Amino acid sequence: MKATVFGTGYVGLVQAAVMAASGHEVVCVDKDAEKIAKLEQGIIPIFEPGLEEIVLTNRKNGRLRFTTDPEVGVSHGLVQFIAVGTPPDEDGAADLKYVLAVADTIGSLMSEKRIVVVKSTVPVGTCDQVKRTIEARLSKRERSHIPFDVASNPEFLKEGSAVSDCLKPDRIILGTASSETEAIMRELYMPQNRNHEKMIVMDVRSAEMTKYAANTLLATKISFINEIANLADILGADIEMVRKGIGSDPRIGYHFIYAGIGYGGSCFPKDVQALIRTGDQQKYDMHLLKAVEARNATQKRVLLDKILRYFDGNVEGRTFALWGLSFKPNTDDMREAPSRAIMESLWEKGARIRAYDPKAMDECRRIYGDREDLILVEQQEDALDNADALIVATEWKSFSAPDFDEIAAKLKSPVIFDGRNLYDPHQLKRHGLDYFAIGRNGLTSSAPADLPIK
Ligand code: UDX
Repeated sequence: MKATVFGTGYVGLVQAAVMAASGHEVVCVDKDAEKIAKLEQGIIPIFEPGLEEIVLTNRKNGRLRFTTDPEVGVSHGLVQFIAVGTPPDEDGAADLKYVLAVADTIGSLMSEKRIVVVKSTVPVGTCDQVKRTIEARLSKRERSHIPFDVASNPEFLKEGSAVSDCLKPDRIILGTASSETEAIMRELYMPQNRNHEKMIVMDVRSAEMTKYAANTLLATKISFINEIANLADILGADIEMVRKGIGSDPRIGYHFIYAGIGYGGSCFPKDVQALIRTGDQQKYDMHLLKAVEARNATQKRVLLDKILRYFDGNVEGRTFALWGLSFKPNTDDMREAPSRAIMESLWEKGARIRAYDPKAMDECRRIYGDREDLILVEQQEDALDNADALIVATEWKSFSAPDFDEIAAKLKSPVIFDGRNLYDPHQLKRHGLDYFAIGRNGLTSSAPADLPIK
């Protein structure tokens, strides 16, 4: 089949590449000429495992093409995906200007039947707006007879495993009232839907809402466990034991109940905020989600408070080794990353950072530029040189079994502040290391350092 994808960000590029890999002919449209030029040369703007390989293969065999020309895109695909960004506007609501601009473009260029599929995460009711935008364009052109449908097909990709998530989705949510659209989308998704029925077809508004409900529920689980972890710290319980204890109940499950320094990334913070604003617009108070958001904001400071307590509130002139910059492993994305909140606060207090991340060093350089109080090192061990303490902000695999004796020998104060609960407190004690994690005060140093700063 022929499909067009507007937007070559994470969502658009992965969707396009996977469709091409499944045998469809795909054209990607982006207004960013530099990005398109790079993609045409086979340079992938983001790091995502497996993506480069399928982009390069399918660009070579001609099933994946890139253009800045929307006319080429609109005339190519029967199915037109909208996968452009929906950044938060000043008050946190999803800004739809890019989505509606693409709808307007499709309406002004289409000359035959088109199925417009909204992949971007958009507030409930957006597909109706897309439909009205296209209708308005068509009637201005006096071509109101051209048939089209607007369907919702939200993405559920996780950064770091986006390609495999897209190749083997848990579910394919499709919002449409048209049986013809359903048949076309079934054909398009056939390779993903072959062995098990993954497609759940529903009305458009429910599909739009499913995406927000999924992401905000996951964010709620994280803020919940973080809240319990902080209390566990105060009461001397171990959140890792509690996690295992509650996860064994299938109604709760083991996923997304890992305590840490808060959720980050491009989705959870933005989607929680957007759903709160949607509630506000409808004069419906989203009490629970407001608490989820507030807990996450304070959670990013929990480790910092432990650090400050340990150093008697003064870190001026101290150097911290920092392992992990990306908001989670297997990505170079630093959007809303807890590492940023930690670095920025430590800088403000006069400390220096020696940081290492397996993938996000360039991104860190791009965000912060050259500064005296930030040294990016090539090897994780090099971060420890002349450092007072080690902070772990992301659970990259290479951090999971380091040489603790080397860490203890290199650090001026042999202490690890672990924002991801990676280590066994008993083991660290044997290596002579003080250890502060999240919700594990019962097992870590008995210091008042684990009580939050008032
Ligand atoms: C998320 C959703 O999982 C995905 O379905 C949606 O399409 C986009 O948003 P992503 O942003 O890539 O994907 O990250 P995810 O793996 O969900 O993690 C989000 C954040 O939660 C990370 O900062 C992670 O460190 C944190 N997290 C996750 C926890 O703190 N504890 C957990 O138990 C799980």
